[in-house]
Amino acid sequence: MELSTRYLGLDLRNPLVASASPLSKTVDGVRRLADAGVGAVVLYSLFEEQLRREAELNARMAEVGTDSFAESLSYFPAAADDDHGPRRYLSLLERAAAAVSVPVIGSINGSTPGSWAGYARSMQDSGAAAIELNIYYLPGDPHVSGRDVEQSHLDILARVKDAVTVPVAVKLSPYFSATGEMARRLDEAGADGLVLFNRFLQPDIDPETLTVVRGVSLSTAAEIRLPLTWIALLRGRVGASLAATTGVESAAELIKYLLAGADVVMSASALLRHGPEYAAVLLDGLREWMERKGYTSVEELRGLLATPVGADGTTRERGNYVNALRHADSTDYPIP
Ligand SMILES: Cc1cc2nc3c(=O)[nH]c(=O)nc-3n(C[C@H](O)[C@H](O)[C@H](O)COP(=O)(O)O)c2cc1C
Repeated sequence: MELSTRYLGLDLRNPLVASASPLSKTVDGVRRLADAGVGAVVLYSLFEEQLRREAELNARMAEVGTDSFAESLSYFPAAADDDHGPRRYLSLLERAAAAVSVPVIGSINGSTPGSWAGYARSMQDSGAAAIELNIYYLPGDPHVSGRDVEQSHLDILARVKDAVTVPVAVKLSPYFSATGEMARRLDEAGADGLVLFNRFLQPDIDPETLTVVRGVSLSTAAEIRLPLTWIALLRGRVGASLAATTGVESAAELIKYLLAGADVVMSASALLRHGPEYAAVLLDGLREWMERKGYTSVEELRGLLATPVGADGTTRERGNYVNALRHADSTDYPIP
């Protein structure tokens, strides 16, 4: 059975990719993911703001030490160095890339436009097979316009593309007025892949303690529908590879995303929940389903249920919406 897949111009042994998560914070974690069979691993993101905070803290500690102890600087030689955090990341990347035979993709979350390019170049030099730009940006300032937000995505991409020769994927949010146009503009600006979508950490409120509850929650399979819709709509309409991320809990979601037209399907929550070895279970499920349905390669099934190129996506979605609501009125939800 042929599971091999092209993603970002890279040859992968199958379409399941471990997306950025704490599982790839160690070489051993990356090795476990590769041993479980994934086609590629995206390392957890290098977060520029976190590194800056660490560097500031370390610098303060070094200063305090200078006042207190003559030999203090020798206690903090590396810690006081702004580059320490990135070097730690690059060292992991280099060791992980050497330890496994599948592509290891570096991921960046920068906070200043120039920094993305510098980090991307360093990641390429450390053995990254590709770069994923984790553009996690919620325009909370009501004065920021949609066009400005879009332009900042394009600016980051342009600077990174100028700095590296390896492929570059953009992980973006679904919250644009015209997500399709944003995808097309990123495609035209040279994005080698689009990762749909970033999952925002929306805070909750605890009414008992009157506190805001923050934190990372793992996804559920019900969350696949938004990325599934956009993968189906963008298939065949952009040249960039399409990666689906969010809600892969079992082989069923992996299969749905492939049918919608994803080149690769990423998983984080399920692998965190069940362990990296669960990748093998997802791939076994895909093989079992393909065998049952008579498919011999993923190419045969990829995009079978995408929105046909030439069809008007807006009219189709509107038609589906009206039909679904009419059906729900009459049968699905009888009023008790
Ligand atoms: C604990 C945790 C940490 C994550 N860290 C990162 C990260 O460093 N960079 C990134 O781009 N995405 C990160 N993500 C997002 C995942 O890569 C993924 O896109 C998202 O969780 C949706 O996929 P899933 O439903 O399979 O979890 C993280 C997710 C979780 C749950």
